Amino acid sequence: MNTTNRADTPPDSLISRFEVTFGAAPDGVWAAPGRVNLIGEHTDYNQGFVLPFAIEKRARTAVRLRDDSTVRLLSTIGDQGLVEADAAALAPGAVTGWAKYPLGVVWALQQHGIKVPGFDLLLDSDVPLGAGLSSSHAIECALITALNELTGAGLSAEEMVMLTQRAENAFVGAPTGIMDQSASLRGASGHAVFLDCRDQAVQLVPFEAQEAGLVLLVIDTKVSHSHADGGYSSRRASCELGAQILGVSALRDVAVTDLQNARGLLDPTTFRRVHHIVTENDRVLQTVDTLRAHGAAHIGDLLDASHASMRDDFEISCPELNLAVDKARTNGAIGARMTGGGFGGSAIALTPVQDEQQVRDAVILAFAAAGFTRPEIFSVTPSAGAARTS
Ligand code: GLA
Repeated sequence: MNTTNRADTPPDSLISRFEVTFGAAPDGVWAAPGRVNLIGEHTDYNQGFVLPFAIEKRARTAVRLRDDSTVRLLSTIGDQGLVEADAAALAPGAVTGWAKYPLGVVWALQQHGIKVPGFDLLLDSDVPLGAGLSSSHAIECALITALNELTGAGLSAEEMVMLTQRAENAFVGAPTGIMDQSASLRGASGHAVFLDCRDQAVQLVPFEAQEAGLVLLVIDTKVSHSHADGGYSSRRASCELGAQILGVSALRDVAVTDLQNARGLLDPTTFRRVHHIVTENDRVLQTVDTLRAHGAAHIGDLLDASHASMRDDFEISCPELNLAVDKARTNGAIGARMTGGGFGGSAIALTPVQDEQQVRDAVILAFAAAGFTRPEIFSVTPSAGAARTS
């Protein structure tokens, strides 16, 4: 999905556009948010801990079931034209472009034994594409919420998480974990989603930056990335190798105190990868404790340490992300880190309200001086997860 994003369309205009396009009103509109991850990166597929939250920006799908097996998909984003497919003849790897996200959901539901008839779908989204804010999961979560209701499948949030992961892994071809869709489906206003990726247990942790006089800024570096590319899967493979050598089923089972011993057993690169995951899991737990005990103003050092670990041990940062983090920190942010899968996308900077403008200006100036594309900077607050909106 490399097209330029456009401004959000009000729901009534989505409905009237659906009517004009498909000749009848939709059965309803379902929306699902993108996410930022506060901390806990690449820990999800190691059965560890993550602390993301759902953002206000969301994908919206207007959907109407059909009485045949034809699926017709149209997006208001870019200029992509109508996509038609047969719901009864979907195969992994055969679909390209944005349609692979909704069709992957249909395929995964069918693999789970749920009969999905054809449908018409109109998509709109203001989750920036390729910015590391889970624009593709937002689409998948909006649609699975719609189809869960329209087909009467009665899936739980946990089941929808597993099915959207299956869509991503087996249909889209991105070997991702369960963090993004968990935030999108299970997010709540004013809270971060503390998720144990081993058993999907969720605790909602209050994250009220505003009350602490802070704002959480997202700095979209405009460096686009895809988790179907090699970097993400090679990190995942390193983690699996590390777990195998250390004799555990997942790196979740390695403690910080085991690292000394692990150093002697692993090659230097695998050790650095393992070191990131093990210390990052610990940082998530510390962040949750700190948020609960002292509030958002006290987690800055943990965010900084997370970024350093991703830059130096996991090696998934890039010059643009490092510059965004450095400039945010030296101009007032109390903590900053890249967020998401890495190799591009966005950084977050927890910033005192009075320093917000200075951080924005300094980052934009530094990007211009370095010859980088102008970043987009906006603030986010935790919002509700996927739901029907009309
Ligand atoms: C992407 C994946 C997630 C997770 C993050 C890294 O967003 O979709 O499953 O692995 O990267 O934390």
